[in-house]
Amino acid sequence: MAISAPTVLDLPPGPRQPRYAQALQWVMRPQEFVVRQRERFGDVFTLEFIDGLPLVVLSDPEDIRTVFTGSAEVMHAGEANKLLEPVLGSRSILLLDEAEHLRHRRLLLPPFHGERMLRYEQIMAEAARRELATWQEGETIEMLPRMQAITLEVIMRAVFGIEDGLEMERLRVLLRTMLQQTTDMRQMALSLILGPDSERLQQRLDEVLRPVDEELYRVISGHRAAANLEEREDILSMLLLARDEDGEAMTDEELRDELMTLLLAGHETTASSLSWAFEQLTHQPQTLERLTEELRDGGDEPYAEAVIRETMRLRPVLPIVIRLLKEPITVGQGRFRLPAGTRVAPAIILVHLRDDIYPDPYQFRPERFIETAPGTYTWIPFGGGMRRCIGSAFAQFEMRAVLRAVLTNFDLEAAGGPERITRRSLTIVPDHGGRVRLLRRVKPAGSEATGKGAQAP
Ligand code: HEM
Repeated sequence: MAISAPTVLDLPPGPRQPRYAQALQWVMRPQEFVVRQRERFGDVFTLEFIDGLPLVVLSDPEDIRTVFTGSAEVMHAGEANKLLEPVLGSRSILLLDEAEHLRHRRLLLPPFHGERMLRYEQIMAEAARRELATWQEGETIEMLPRMQAITLEVIMRAVFGIEDGLEMERLRVLLRTMLQQTTDMRQMALSLILGPDSERLQQRLDEVLRPVDEELYRVISGHRAAANLEEREDILSMLLLARDEDGEAMTDEELRDELMTLLLAGHETTASSLSWAFEQLTHQPQTLERLTEELRDGGDEPYAEAVIRETMRLRPVLPIVIRLLKEPITVGQGRFRLPAGTRVAPAIILVHLRDDIYPDPYQFRPERFIETAPGTYTWIPFGGGMRRCIGSAFAQFEMRAVLRAVLTNFDLEAAGGPERITRRSLTIVPDHGGRVRLLRRVKPAGSEATGKGAQAP
């Protein structure tokens, strides 16, 4: 169903540039673009995107609270994410609203519970170790593709439960091809122009998706047939055993859509966040040194936790989330009554740069999270409310495991100046992929890559 334009106009002001110009700036320089608009129009402003519909951007924590605590009947995220349907499928949690969303969320949440994450530590450390074994002293590398290799392997093993080496290799090749196609900027531009319902687009997608789907259905039926399903630790096995309130299990089609969702929601986001962590750390040697020391000591890791929080504050890889309003709401301290049909966007990236909440907001300073816990509506890299990321513990745990593996094995330094923010499909990434120089291997290749004392975040 196409989204129709709001009927009553009570929208906050915004830039008057043509919509293509706005969309281009949003894609190329997302942070500069929205920061400029906030300086001009204040905490609430309206953008116009390629589809010609307004998008009301919010950056006052009070308005963020209004959206995150709003009822599921009023705040439709699924409808607002329609563009993702050709890849994710119509039964993806990201595309559902109200009762169906809640049903999927209840089925998906238990396997992602914070305490369960410890079980994935070994998988995460092994994936990192395999990648690290290919690194050479003295070389300069781009972190982003290296981190993607690690996070893809982690998803295939921890979420899809793949153990067989050949099966893993086959799926890796297929997923890489699919991810390249679906995250390619030209593809994105094409889908914005043609719209998600375009037949041409669907046809091109079908070609890359068909072999992936066949493989995913093979993985699902293999799991169904497994005699030891109850003992298995992977997330797919738990989803196969999960029952909703009516005692119903998920169908194969639902499972396929959710596996694809977990892959797309969890792989690139975590890899992008990790490459930002290295980009920030290598440009601030004292911070890097303090973190490295803590991780090599092998005890508790409070500084690592603060580094991860600060990375996600300063470089939130998903800069906004979107809701489609089904009923009017009031924002901007009572100044604007937004009509039903408006899309609103809590702007994570702008909330995180508020100097009334974060003094010197552009400084990378993990210390700010040592004594102060992140606020529910002021630290929102994982969104909030009923749609808050279900993989937040998984992602933070994985980031910690990978930071630990890399920094206990290598001394690093920046290779070049600080990198600008650019966009790679849905996430924002360092524009040179986070380039670092590998100075010295601390431990011989293949030796144990982890420290000890890991705790679930
Ligand atoms: C650094 C890594 C990650 C970031 C920054 C991130 C961020 C987010 C954000 C902002 C949302 C909310 C979207 C909205 O409000 O519309 C979200 C939702 C979601 N995320 Fe994550 N995510 C990350 C990692 C993961 C991982 C590792 C997984 C699973 C393997 C995952 C699975 C999901 C799912 C299934 C949802 C949809 C929840 C719902 O609609 O109820 N994410 N994520």
